[in-house]
Amino acid sequence: MRKVIFYFSPCGNTKAVADIINRYYGGDILMQELTTPTMDVIIDSETLVFFCYPVYAGRIPKPMYDRMNQVKGNNTPCVNVAVFGNRAVDDALIEMQDVARQSGFVTVGGCEIVAPHSIDPSFGANRPDASDIAKIEDFLKKLDEKEALTEVKMPGNPEYAKKKPMDLPLYPKPSKECIGCGICYKYCPAGAINAKRMKTYKRKCISCMRCVSMCSTETRTVNLPMRVVASAYLKKFCSDRKEPKFYL
Ligand SMILES: Cc1cc2nc3c(=O)[nH]c(=O)nc-3n(C[C@H](O)[C@H](O)[C@H](O)COP(=O)(O)O)c2cc1C
Ligand code: SF4
Ligand code: SF4
Repeated sequence: MRKVIFYFSPCGNTKAVADIINRYYGGDILMQELTTPTMDVIIDSETLVFFCYPVYAGRIPKPMYDRMNQVKGNNTPCVNVAVFGNRAVDDALIEMQDVARQSGFVTVGGCEIVAPHSIDPSFGANRPDASDIAKIEDFLKKLDEKEALTEVKMPGNPEYAKKKPMDLPLYPKPSKECIGCGICYKYCPAGAINAKRMKTYKRKCISCMRCVSMCSTETRTVNLPMRVVASAYLKKFCSDRKEPKFYL
């Protein structure tokens, strides 16, 4: 069966998981990035699609709604791959199943894979490791062996939309040393950066940390007190090792 991987990956950890899936199939699967808007595509029912995306506050990243409007299936089977920073996936898989369904996809499998936390990469550091990769490969083998690709229920609370999101107010900003190169503006997934002064529109920012990781002068940062608060918060929930989970 033909396969395509779509990935949304502001800081590259989700892309690294997508690469593991691609390598398992010999490295020649078409990979399409969804981190910034893409072209409209329609996928037929003979293709198996992998949607790889990070978990944000137990949900899918908000721009995934726009991106999934650009990717249309036609009763097309998909596997939803939620990549998380060693805390929890909560409702991200069930939300993604709903969004994928609205775009014409049938969720035939899902998984939760641990990767470094993009707010503080010391949590989930060096994941996925050899043990994780062996489990991912075993999952893909079982997926290939499955005779019929039928819908699988994803975990999570179907009432996720009614829950109050637990957002951390982490908004990066440029320092005086900003040279105005525009890289952060160009690659922000949420269109949350002012083109002239490179300031962040807080209402639009999803705190993905892409602009911080891509800043050409390493001068775009979240202020130190907020980083300290965030790391202390994450320490409570992300310190003990979490294992990947698979649904087939
Ligand atoms: C705003 C934000 C919220 C996050 N929320 C969660 C979460 O609820 N649970 C979790 O385990 N990891 C969480 N993470 C960590 C990411 O899911 C994880 O680092 C992922 O690998 C990031 O993918 P990327 O490197 O492709 O951007 C969050 C990260 C960010 C930036
Ligand atoms: S401004 Fe916000 S949304 Fe845009 S790249 Fe930076 S952290 Fe992500
Ligand atoms: S990437 Fe860094 S240096 Fe370039 S405009 Fe953005 S904040 Fe300024």
